[in-house]
Amino acid sequence: MLFRLALLSLVSCAVAQDLGVPLTWRKFNNSRPLSERITIAQNAINQMTPQLNSATGEFNAIGYWQSGNVWSVLANQDHLAGTTTNKALVLNNLNLVFSRWAHYDQFGTMTMLCGGPKPHCTRTEHTATPRCWRMPSTFGLMSPASERINCFIFILGSQLASVITAAEASAGKQPNKAFAIKSTCGGATMAGGVFWRPTTDDQSVNSITTGLSAFLAEYTKNATYTSAAILSANWIKAHNINANNLVLDTVNAADCTTSPATWLFTYNSGKYIEGLNVLAAVTGDSQWTTLMINILNSAVKTTVWQGSDGIITEGVSTTSNNDGVGFKAVFIRGIHEAWTRNPSNTALTTLIHSYGDVQYNALLDLAANGSTYSSNWHGPPQAFTSWGQLAALDVMTSNINTN
Ligand SMILES: *[C@@H]1O[C@H](CO)[C@@H](O)[C@H](O)[C@H]1NC(C)=O
Ligand SMILES: *[C@@H]1O[C@H](CO)[C@@H](O)[C@H](O)[C@H]1NC(C)=O
Ligand SMILES: *[C@@H]1O[C@H](CO)[C@@H](O)[C@H](O)[C@H]1NC(C)=O
Repeated sequence: MLFRLALLSLVSCAVAQDLGVPLTWRKFNNSRPLSERITIAQNAINQMTPQLNSATGEFNAIGYWQSGNVWSVLANQDHLAGTTTNKALVLNNLNLVFSRWAHYDQFGTMTMLCGGPKPHCTRTEHTATPRCWRMPSTFGLMSPASERINCFIFILGSQLASVITAAEASAGKQPNKAFAIKSTCGGATMAGGVFWRPTTDDQSVNSITTGLSAFLAEYTKNATYTSAAILSANWIKAHNINANNLVLDTVNAADCTTSPATWLFTYNSGKYIEGLNVLAAVTGDSQWTTLMINILNSAVKTTVWQGSDGIITEGVSTTSNNDGVGFKAVFIRGIHEAWTRNPSNTALTTLIHSYGDVQYNALLDLAANGSTYSSNWHGPPQAFTSWGQLAALDVMTSNINTN
């Protein structure tokens, strides 16, 4: 079944995509000048930073991985605005967080590649879930260079511990797992998949842990990492894309069972889109760009997480935090990467610009209370919440560029 779906998605890749902007989208343009967009985004950040817990480097009322996303957007804000407004805060707090945990891991175990938690884990899984900061966005801010190298080593070690190599797939055994793994699922090799958790009994290979490794190849220019990134990109392509070109969640490496077809989350497509853009740049192989465009075009138009107005409806939670609230921020960051990496594809950049403006205008028109934003992007405005603010930050900062 999975194999058939994978074949279908390959077939659809060959069809030229209509990247047109749906005319039903609400307000897909914007005339705010650059200086105003920079101010709007920085003002949103300035509402978040008072929530910093200076003892932990995390923010009140949101968790570890969500706090990591705040640091990412602060770094991106300086990068896109050409400022150093947030630099010291980012540096000091990343150094604080990194000093608090061995391998930067809150849970004291070797972590996997940076990902995010799943909204559907049981409580037990949840507390044991390893998470880590999404470091690539902040590499450029880290000094001295040895810190960046430490990050590379960390990610390498993490990946080596949790990735399934070609030899391991063939042998049906991964050295850090206490169970036999399937060599193939649905006829495709399991090589390149990255386990969700490093514990010896965790059987889940999922898209969010598998989708990232191209950054390491780009920063190091080391062919070992390029090969690993290609293997992982192929794993998602073969196993975890549905017939509508949306990235699925999990495959069980012990028995090939999959997460339900309805487990569709923006961040799985977003992180893969981001990784494929980097991989296309590293390899010069246009198949990754083609695949990325198909997924992006589907993801911004699917009815799974937006209506005909185009406004994202995933992660609406006005009274309490949950992991899903932060997913759309990861998605927005991923499609921003596509915007920066494909300047000559004007149909694509127009689509991303328009989708970004839909979210931007919704937040500003429907969900804003001063410079604070509800996690319900259709509104109404409400009093400040850390998680609502987190979800909005990437929209504000990305629109400095994409508008
Ligand atoms: C979008 O463009 C139209 C036509 O140029 C214009 O009338 C409208 O004011 C613009 N909307 C925004 C939000 O800038
Ligand atoms: C590339 O990375 C591998 C794995 O860490 C390492 O053994 C090798 O020395 C690296 N190559 C270069 C040229 O740095
Ligand atoms: C706007 O935020 C303030 C401060 O958090 C709050 O007191 C007020 O009720 C909010 N307004 C609305 C319309 O929710």
